Amino acid sequence: MSLTEKLSSYPELQQLYNSQIHLPDYGAFAAQWESSLYSPIRFVLSNFLSSHALAGTHSLLYCAPGPHAPLLRYRGTGSLVAQFQRITLVDIDLNALRLAEQNLSVLQDRVNLDALAFDVTGPFGQRLCDLYRHTLEASTTVGEIAQRLADDSLLASSVFADVEQVLTELTGRLDILVAHRRYSCCVSEMVASFTGSVPWLAFRSSLYKRFSSTASLEKLDACLAAATKVWQRYNENFLSFHFTLLREMTTRDGFVVLVFDTSKVFTGGRSTLTELKRINSFGSQQIIRKLLADRGDKIMQHKMLSWIDHLEGFDVKLYGIPISDFQRHTHDVQMYVVGE
Ligand SMILES: C[S@@+](CC[C@H](N)C(=O)[O-])C[C@H]1O[C@@H](n2cnc3c(N)ncnc32)[C@H](O)[C@@H]1O
Repeated sequence: MSLTEKLSSYPELQQLYNSQIHLPDYGAFAAQWESSLYSPIRFVLSNFLSSHALAGTHSLLYCAPGPHAPLLRYRGTGSLVAQFQRITLVDIDLNALRLAEQNLSVLQDRVNLDALAFDVTGPFGQRLCDLYRHTLEASTTVGEIAQRLADDSLLASSVFADVEQVLTELTGRLDILVAHRRYSCCVSEMVASFTGSVPWLAFRSSLYKRFSSTASLEKLDACLAAATKVWQRYNENFLSFHFTLLREMTTRDGFVVLVFDTSKVFTGGRSTLTELKRINSFGSQQIIRKLLADRGDKIMQHKMLSWIDHLEGFDVKLYGIPISDFQRHTHDVQMYVVGE
Protein backbone atom coordinates (compact mmCIF):
# COMPACT_ATOMS: atom_id res chain seq x y z
CA MET A 1 0.00 0.00 0.00
CA SER A 2 1.52 3.36 -0.98
CA LEU A 3 0.74 6.92 0.09
CA THR A 4 -0.57 7.60 -3.43
CA GLU A 5 -3.49 5.25 -2.97
CA LYS A 6 -4.57 7.05 0.18
CA LEU A 7 -4.64 10.59 -1.19
CA SER A 8 -8.43 10.46 -1.06
CA SER A 9 -8.53 9.94 2.71
CA TYR A 10 -6.54 12.24 4.96
CA PRO A 11 -6.98 10.20 8.19
CA GLU A 12 -5.96 6.97 6.44
CA LEU A 13 -3.01 8.73 4.88
CA GLN A 14 -1.76 9.88 8.29
CA GLN A 15 -2.26 6.39 9.68
CA LEU A 16 -0.34 4.80 6.81
CA TYR A 17 2.49 7.28 7.24
CA ASN A 18 2.73 6.54 10.96
CA SER A 19 2.76 2.77 10.55
CA GLN A 20 4.94 2.44 7.45
CA ILE A 21 7.34 5.36 7.67
CA HIS A 22 7.33 6.95 11.11
CA LEU A 23 7.45 3.80 13.27
CA PRO A 24 10.25 2.00 11.35
CA ASP A 25 12.17 5.27 11.11
CA TYR A 26 12.03 5.89 14.86
CA GLY A 27 12.89 2.21 15.42
CA ALA A 28 16.06 2.57 13.33
CA PHE A 29 17.22 5.92 14.72
CA ALA A 30 15.74 6.19 18.21
CA ALA A 31 19.06 7.19 19.80
CA GLN A 32 19.66 9.98 17.28
CA TRP A 33 16.13 11.35 17.61
CA GLU A 34 16.42 11.21 21.33
CA SER A 35 19.70 13.11 21.58
CA SER A 36 19.03 15.66 18.83
CA LEU A 37 15.39 16.41 19.57
CA TYR A 38 13.47 14.89 22.42
CA SER A 39 15.95 15.25 25.27
CA PRO A 40 16.32 19.00 24.58
CA ILE A 41 12.54 19.47 24.32
CA ARG A 42 11.94 17.67 27.61
CA PHE A 43 14.69 19.68 29.26
CA VAL A 44 13.22 23.05 28.21
CA LEU A 45 9.68 22.03 29.11
CA SER A 46 10.67 20.60 32.45
CA ASN A 47 12.53 23.80 33.44
CA PHE A 48 9.67 25.92 32.29
CA LEU A 49 7.10 23.91 34.24
CA SER A 50 9.05 23.95 37.45
CA SER A 51 9.64 27.68 37.27
CA HIS A 52 5.99 28.52 36.51
CA ALA A 53 4.00 26.74 39.17
CA LEU A 54 4.26 24.26 41.98
CA ALA A 55 5.10 20.87 40.50
CA GLY A 56 2.05 18.63 40.28
CA THR A 57 -0.55 21.35 39.68
CA HIS A 58 -0.33 21.46 35.90
CA SER A 59 -2.63 19.85 33.39
CA LEU A 60 -1.52 18.95 29.86
CA LEU A 61 -3.19 18.76 26.48
CA TYR A 62 -0.65 16.86 24.38
CA CYS A 63 -1.44 17.23 20.70
CA ALA A 64 0.02 14.73 18.20
CA PRO A 65 1.90 12.45 20.61
CA GLY A 66 2.07 9.79 17.88
CA PRO A 67 2.75 6.20 18.82
CA HIS A 68 5.74 7.05 21.03
CA ALA A 69 4.45 10.01 23.05
CA PRO A 70 8.13 10.83 23.45
CA LEU A 71 7.72 13.86 25.70
CA LEU A 72 6.29 11.73 28.47
CA ARG A 73 8.45 8.66 28.25
CA TYR A 74 10.97 7.80 30.92
CA ARG A 75 14.42 9.01 30.05
CA GLY A 76 17.24 9.93 32.34
CA THR A 77 15.84 11.39 35.52
CA GLY A 78 12.18 10.41 35.05
CA SER A 79 9.04 11.18 33.15
CA LEU A 80 7.45 14.61 32.91
CA VAL A 81 4.21 12.86 33.86
CA ALA A 82 5.01 13.58 37.49
CA GLN A 83 4.51 17.29 36.78
CA PHE A 84 0.85 16.89 35.75
CA GLN A 85 -2.38 16.07 37.51
CA ARG A 86 -4.28 15.45 34.31
CA ILE A 87 -3.16 14.62 30.76
CA THR A 88 -5.18 14.39 27.54
CA LEU A 89 -3.59 12.94 24.40
CA VAL A 90 -5.06 14.13 21.08
CA ASP A 91 -4.10 12.55 17.76
CA ILE A 92 -5.87 11.84 14.47
CA ASP A 93 -4.54 8.28 14.45
CA LEU A 94 -6.40 5.93 16.78
CA ASN A 95 -3.79 3.18 16.38
CA ALA A 96 -1.04 5.61 17.32
CA LEU A 97 -3.01 6.62 20.42
CA ARG A 98 -3.39 2.98 21.45
CA LEU A 99 0.35 2.45 21.10
CA ALA A 100 1.02 5.66 23.02
CA GLU A 101 -1.24 4.44 25.83
CA GLN A 102 0.61 1.11 25.88
CA ASN A 103 3.92 2.91 25.99
CA LEU A 104 2.73 5.03 28.88
CA SER A 105 0.83 2.26 30.68
CA VAL A 106 3.46 2.02 33.37
CA LEU A 107 2.70 5.67 34.21
CA GLN A 108 -1.05 5.52 34.01
CA ASP A 109 -1.80 4.76 37.65
CA ARG A 110 -0.04 7.98 38.59
CA VAL A 111 -2.02 10.37 36.48
CA ASN A 112 -5.49 11.00 35.12
CA LEU A 113 -4.77 10.11 31.48
CA ASP A 114 -7.18 9.98 28.56
CA ALA A 115 -6.86 9.84 24.78
CA LEU A 116 -8.95 11.42 22.03
CA ALA A 117 -8.94 10.61 18.33
CA PHE A 118 -9.43 14.06 16.82
CA ASP A 119 -8.40 15.79 13.59
CA VAL A 120 -6.96 19.14 14.67
CA THR A 121 -7.24 20.48 11.12
CA GLY A 122 -11.02 20.03 11.01
CA PRO A 123 -11.63 19.85 7.23
CA PHE A 124 -8.36 21.54 6.16
CA GLY A 125 -6.13 18.43 5.92
CA GLN A 126 -8.70 16.62 3.79
CA ARG A 127 -9.17 19.69 1.61
CA LEU A 128 -5.42 19.90 0.95
CA CYS A 129 -5.49 16.24 -0.16
CA ASP A 130 -8.46 17.03 -2.40
CA LEU A 131 -6.72 20.03 -3.90
CA TYR A 132 -3.66 17.93 -4.86
CA ARG A 133 -5.77 14.99 -6.06
CA HIS A 134 -8.19 17.06 -8.13
CA THR A 135 -5.28 18.92 -9.74
CA LEU A 136 -3.64 15.63 -10.71
CA GLU A 137 -6.91 14.24 -12.04
CA ALA A 138 -7.81 17.34 -14.02
CA SER A 139 -4.43 17.58 -15.80
CA THR A 140 -2.83 15.58 -18.56
CA THR A 141 0.71 16.99 -18.40
CA VAL A 142 3.18 17.97 -15.68
CA GLY A 143 3.16 21.53 -17.03
CA GLU A 144 -0.59 21.71 -16.63
CA ILE A 145 -0.39 20.53 -13.01
CA ALA A 146 2.30 23.14 -12.25
CA GLN A 147 0.21 25.87 -13.84
CA ARG A 148 -2.91 25.01 -11.85
CA LEU A 149 -0.96 24.84 -8.58
CA ALA A 150 0.65 28.22 -9.26
CA ASP A 151 -2.74 29.91 -8.93
CA ASP A 152 -2.31 32.00 -5.78
CA SER A 153 -6.00 32.12 -4.96
CA LEU A 154 -6.34 28.33 -4.86
CA LEU A 155 -5.69 27.80 -1.13
CA ALA A 156 -7.88 30.65 0.01
CA SER A 157 -10.77 29.54 -2.18
CA SER A 158 -10.62 25.79 -1.72
CA VAL A 159 -9.02 25.12 1.68
CA PHE A 160 -9.21 28.10 4.06
CA ALA A 161 -12.38 29.85 2.90
CA ASP A 162 -14.19 29.50 6.26
CA VAL A 163 -11.50 29.67 8.95
CA GLU A 164 -13.59 31.51 11.59
CA GLN A 165 -16.47 29.09 11.26
CA VAL A 166 -14.19 26.04 11.48
CA LEU A 167 -12.47 27.50 14.53
CA THR A 168 -15.80 27.94 16.32
CA GLU A 169 -16.89 24.42 15.39
CA LEU A 170 -13.65 22.75 16.40
CA THR A 171 -13.30 24.61 19.68
CA GLY A 172 -16.89 23.68 20.52
CA ARG A 173 -16.34 20.00 19.70
CA LEU A 174 -13.06 19.79 21.58
CA ASP A 175 -14.65 21.61 24.49
CA ILE A 176 -17.39 19.02 24.79
CA LEU A 177 -14.94 16.13 24.44
CA VAL A 178 -12.81 17.43 27.32
CA ALA A 179 -15.83 18.43 29.43
CA HIS A 180 -15.16 22.18 29.09
CA ARG A 181 -11.92 21.97 30.99
CA ARG A 182 -8.94 24.17 30.23
CA TYR A 183 -5.28 23.18 30.47
CA SER A 184 -2.37 25.03 32.01
CA CYS A 185 -0.15 23.66 29.27
CA CYS A 186 -0.99 22.75 25.67
CA VAL A 187 1.83 21.13 23.75
CA SER A 188 1.72 20.45 20.04
CA GLU A 189 4.46 18.29 18.70
CA MET A 190 3.85 17.45 15.08
CA VAL A 191 7.42 18.02 14.03
CA ALA A 192 8.07 16.73 10.48
CA SER A 193 4.61 15.29 10.05
CA PHE A 194 3.20 18.75 10.19
CA THR A 195 -0.36 18.22 9.05
CA GLY A 196 0.29 19.10 5.38
CA SER A 197 3.49 17.12 4.88
CA VAL A 198 1.92 13.72 4.32
CA PRO A 199 -0.50 14.99 1.61
CA TRP A 200 2.52 16.71 -0.01
CA LEU A 201 4.49 13.43 0.07
CA ALA A 202 1.51 11.56 -1.39
CA PHE A 203 1.19 14.14 -4.15
CA ARG A 204 4.87 13.76 -4.94
CA SER A 205 4.61 9.96 -5.09
CA SER A 206 1.62 10.22 -7.43
CA LEU A 207 3.46 12.67 -9.65
CA TYR A 208 6.53 10.43 -9.96
CA LYS A 209 4.46 7.34 -10.43
CA ARG A 210 2.55 8.84 -13.32
CA PHE A 211 5.21 10.90 -15.06
CA SER A 212 8.71 9.70 -14.11
CA SER A 213 9.20 7.86 -17.39
CA THR A 214 7.70 10.55 -19.67
CA ALA A 215 8.49 13.99 -18.20
CA SER A 216 11.92 15.63 -17.97
CA LEU A 217 13.57 16.14 -14.59
CA GLU A 218 13.32 19.92 -15.08
CA LYS A 219 9.57 19.73 -15.58
CA LEU A 220 9.12 17.41 -12.60
CA ASP A 221 11.22 19.73 -10.44
CA ALA A 222 9.22 22.79 -11.50
CA CYS A 223 5.97 21.00 -10.75
CA LEU A 224 7.20 19.84 -7.36
CA ALA A 225 8.31 23.39 -6.59
CA ALA A 226 4.76 24.64 -7.31
CA ALA A 227 3.30 21.92 -5.04
CA THR A 228 5.83 22.85 -2.34
CA LYS A 229 4.72 26.50 -2.42
CA VAL A 230 1.13 25.41 -1.87
CA TRP A 231 2.29 23.30 1.08
CA GLN A 232 4.31 26.22 2.57
CA ARG A 233 1.32 28.52 2.43
CA TYR A 234 -0.90 25.79 3.85
CA ASN A 235 1.59 25.49 6.77
CA GLU A 236 1.47 29.24 7.44
CA ASN A 237 -2.31 29.28 7.51
CA PHE A 238 -2.53 26.14 9.57
CA LEU A 239 0.03 27.25 12.16
CA SER A 240 -1.98 30.37 12.83
CA PHE A 241 -5.23 28.40 13.08
CA HIS A 242 -3.68 25.74 15.30
CA PHE A 243 -2.16 28.22 17.70
CA THR A 244 -5.50 30.00 18.09
CA LEU A 245 -7.28 26.71 18.80
CA LEU A 246 -4.73 25.69 21.42
CA ARG A 247 -4.84 29.14 23.02
CA GLU A 248 -8.60 28.68 23.40
CA MET A 249 -7.97 25.46 25.31
CA THR A 250 -5.47 27.05 27.68
CA THR A 251 -6.14 28.68 31.06
CA ARG A 252 -5.54 32.43 31.22
CA ASP A 253 -2.21 32.07 32.97
CA GLY A 254 -1.28 28.93 31.01
CA PHE A 255 0.97 28.59 28.00
CA VAL A 256 1.19 26.88 24.63
CA VAL A 257 4.26 25.02 23.43
CA LEU A 258 4.60 24.58 19.68
CA VAL A 259 7.27 22.34 18.22
CA PHE A 260 7.54 22.03 14.46
CA ASP A 261 10.18 21.71 11.79
CA THR A 262 11.03 24.76 9.75
CA SER A 263 13.28 23.16 7.15
CA LYS A 264 14.63 19.91 5.91
CA VAL A 265 18.31 20.06 5.00
CA PHE A 266 19.83 17.40 2.79
CA THR A 267 23.35 16.37 3.64
CA GLY A 268 23.57 13.18 1.56
CA GLY A 269 25.58 13.60 -1.65
CA ARG A 270 24.23 10.98 -4.03
CA SER A 271 22.51 11.79 -7.28
CA THR A 272 18.83 12.36 -6.80
CA LEU A 273 15.75 12.98 -8.85
CA THR A 274 15.42 16.49 -7.48
CA GLU A 275 18.35 18.75 -6.76
CA LEU A 276 16.76 20.46 -3.82
CA LYS A 277 19.20 20.99 -0.96
CA ARG A 278 16.85 22.58 1.52
CA ILE A 279 13.09 22.64 1.74
CA ASN A 280 11.58 25.31 3.98
CA SER A 281 8.26 24.61 5.67
CA PHE A 282 7.26 28.29 5.49
CA GLY A 283 7.62 30.98 2.83
CA SER A 284 9.66 33.10 5.22
CA GLN A 285 11.10 32.54 8.68
CA GLN A 286 9.83 35.94 9.89
CA ILE A 287 6.27 34.87 9.34
CA ILE A 288 6.28 32.51 12.32
CA ARG A 289 7.16 35.20 14.84
CA LYS A 290 4.68 37.52 13.23
CA LEU A 291 1.87 34.95 13.39
CA LEU A 292 2.51 34.31 17.06
CA ALA A 293 3.02 37.96 18.00
CA ASP A 294 -0.14 39.08 16.18
CA ARG A 295 -2.28 37.42 18.86
CA GLY A 296 -1.01 39.76 21.56
CA ASP A 297 0.72 36.95 23.42
CA LYS A 298 4.37 37.00 24.16
CA ILE A 299 6.98 34.49 23.13
CA MET A 300 8.34 33.37 26.49
CA GLN A 301 10.93 31.04 25.10
CA HIS A 302 12.27 30.14 21.72
CA LYS A 303 14.69 27.38 20.98
CA MET A 304 16.31 26.22 17.76
CA LEU A 305 16.66 22.47 17.67
CA SER A 306 17.63 19.97 15.07
CA TRP A 307 16.52 16.48 14.39
CA ILE A 308 18.84 14.05 12.64
CA ASP A 309 16.86 11.76 10.44
CA HIS A 310 17.70 8.90 8.08
CA LEU A 311 21.39 8.40 8.47
CA GLU A 312 23.47 7.21 5.53
CA GLY A 313 22.55 3.71 4.50
CA PHE A 314 18.78 4.00 4.86
CA ASP A 315 18.24 3.39 1.20
CA VAL A 316 14.68 3.82 0.03
CA LYS A 317 13.64 3.84 -3.60
CA LEU A 318 10.35 4.81 -5.10
CA TYR A 319 9.61 3.06 -8.36
CA GLY A 320 13.31 2.28 -8.64
CA ILE A 321 14.38 5.92 -8.20
CA PRO A 322 16.45 6.87 -5.13
CA ILE A 323 14.48 9.52 -3.31
CA SER A 324 16.47 12.41 -1.95
CA ASP A 325 14.68 12.96 1.32
CA PHE A 326 15.16 9.38 2.36
CA GLN A 327 18.87 10.03 2.25
CA ARG A 328 20.61 11.52 5.19
CA HIS A 329 19.04 14.80 6.19
CA THR A 330 18.37 16.92 9.21
CA HIS A 331 15.37 18.99 10.14
CA ASP A 332 15.68 22.40 11.69
CA VAL A 333 13.12 22.37 14.44
CA GLN A 334 11.86 25.33 16.42
CA MET A 335 10.19 25.32 19.76
CA TYR A 336 8.11 28.27 20.96
CA VAL A 337 6.63 28.71 24.42
CA VAL A 338 3.88 31.32 24.15
CA GLY A 339 1.67 32.84 26.84
CA GLU A 340 0.38 36.07 28.28
C1 LIG B 1 5.85 12.90 13.53
S1 LIG B 1 4.46 12.33 14.45
C2 LIG B 1 4.97 12.94 15.99
C3 LIG B 1 4.90 11.81 16.79
C4 LIG B 1 5.75 11.75 18.00
N1 LIG B 1 6.50 12.90 18.23
C5 LIG B 1 6.64 10.54 17.85
O1 LIG B 1 7.82 10.65 17.69
O2 LIG B 1 6.08 9.46 17.84
C6 LIG B 1 3.14 13.36 14.02
C7 LIG B 1 1.85 13.00 14.67
O3 LIG B 1 0.90 13.98 14.26
C8 LIG B 1 -0.33 13.34 14.09
N2 LIG B 1 -1.18 14.16 13.23
C9 LIG B 1 -0.95 14.47 11.94
N3 LIG B 1 -1.98 15.18 11.46
C10 LIG B 1 -2.87 15.33 12.47
C11 LIG B 1 -4.13 15.95 12.59
N4 LIG B 1 -4.67 16.56 11.55
N5 LIG B 1 -4.78 15.93 13.77
C12 LIG B 1 -4.22 15.31 14.83
N6 LIG B 1 -3.03 14.68 14.77
C13 LIG B 1 -2.36 14.69 13.61
C14 LIG B 1 0.04 12.03 13.44
O4 LIG B 1 -0.97 11.07 13.54
C15 LIG B 1 1.30 11.66 14.21
O5 LIG B 1 0.99 10.85 15.31
